[in-house]
Amino acid sequence: MVVRQENFDLTAHNTFRMKVKCALWVEYDKASDLMEMDFDSFPKPVFHIGGGSNLLFTEDFPGTVLHSKINYIKYADLGLPDVPVMVGAGVCFDDFVANTCSYGLWGAENLSLIPGEVGAAAVQNIGAYGAEVCDIISGVVCYDTLERKKCTFKVSECRYGYRDSMFKDPELKGRYIVTSVLFRLSRTPAPRLEYKGLKELFEGKSSPSPQEIRDAVIGIRKAKLPDPAQIGSAGSFFKNPVVTAAHFAQIAQGYDFVPHFVLDNGFVKVPAAWMIEQCGFKGASYGGASVYEKQPLVIVNTNSEATPEEVMALETQIVTAVLERFGVDLHPEVEHI
Ligand code: EPU
Repeated sequence: MVVRQENFDLTAHNTFRMKVKCALWVEYDKASDLMEMDFDSFPKPVFHIGGGSNLLFTEDFPGTVLHSKINYIKYADLGLPDVPVMVGAGVCFDDFVANTCSYGLWGAENLSLIPGEVGAAAVQNIGAYGAEVCDIISGVVCYDTLERKKCTFKVSECRYGYRDSMFKDPELKGRYIVTSVLFRLSRTPAPRLEYKGLKELFEGKSSPSPQEIRDAVIGIRKAKLPDPAQIGSAGSFFKNPVVTAAHFAQIAQGYDFVPHFVLDNGFVKVPAAWMIEQCGFKGASYGGASVYEKQPLVIVNTNSEATPEEVMALETQIVTAVLERFGVDLHPEVEHI
């Protein structure tokens, strides 16, 4: 079924809770609905939304917003050692994770409680606590809006990187609509406990279950990150920057310790949260927008009244301060629409 609404209020469809509208809202619940859609008649541009948990609408959207309600989780055979599962793009990602953990399957547990939907998770390559969703994806099924047909990409074709994929390539952006994702989960225990907070929790405990790791991750997330049901935000606002070893040495000058992670290629990933904190932004606000006290990588809509202009003004202040102090140009993780 396809639902169409003009002059549609998007407040409930973006976790930042920006009070914006789109000219046309189109929601569908079957991949075949896309085949029959008259895209040419839609106000432009056309933008496909997921849970709206990683974007900032900077103003009313003059075009069409599409949303998938394709909502199924289909296991091939729960008895196999590697369990393939096909999941509709509109499934809430955490409902999927909860489901896999309830069957004792390994692979998705570290990604617990990440807001958003399955289709967007595969576009954005969501990640947390030592895991990325591309680790468990085996294929992505799409609708090609150019050729007007179904197509499937193997995970190796999706060019996954840190919060990145081929679907975000400016030349392809908007062409493919993810309709379902094929995951591969495992019966073989494979706990990933490298993340400091998890390692500490499971020290000395043998063979935790996926559900126990899920519960621990949920506890860590709740302690650090704002609950989207309580306070508007889009999670991490900036990406963690990668700098050369020489640049890192400059950044670290004068500090006893700077948190960092050396990559295989010798470059160094530095937590943006640390730099933002050093620039004195923890808890800072501009109008209704604030830097979250417990995790300065997150900008929150403090009073649900923040405007896009206030969020972007705070963003500019942070980017300018970090550039001046550390010579690092922060890039938003949140997509600006
Ligand atoms: N830090 C500070 N001050 C703070 C908080 C953190 O200096 O107030 C430093 C600490 O040294 C800490 C480091 O920043 O060790 C990293 O912090 P954290 O482990 O919270 O993770 P992050 O790098 O800030 C990334 C992801 C999160 C994900 C966590 C956990 C990005 C942009 N963000 O944040 O993802 O949950 O790791 O794996 O990569 C999201 O994408 O929306 C998101 C929340």
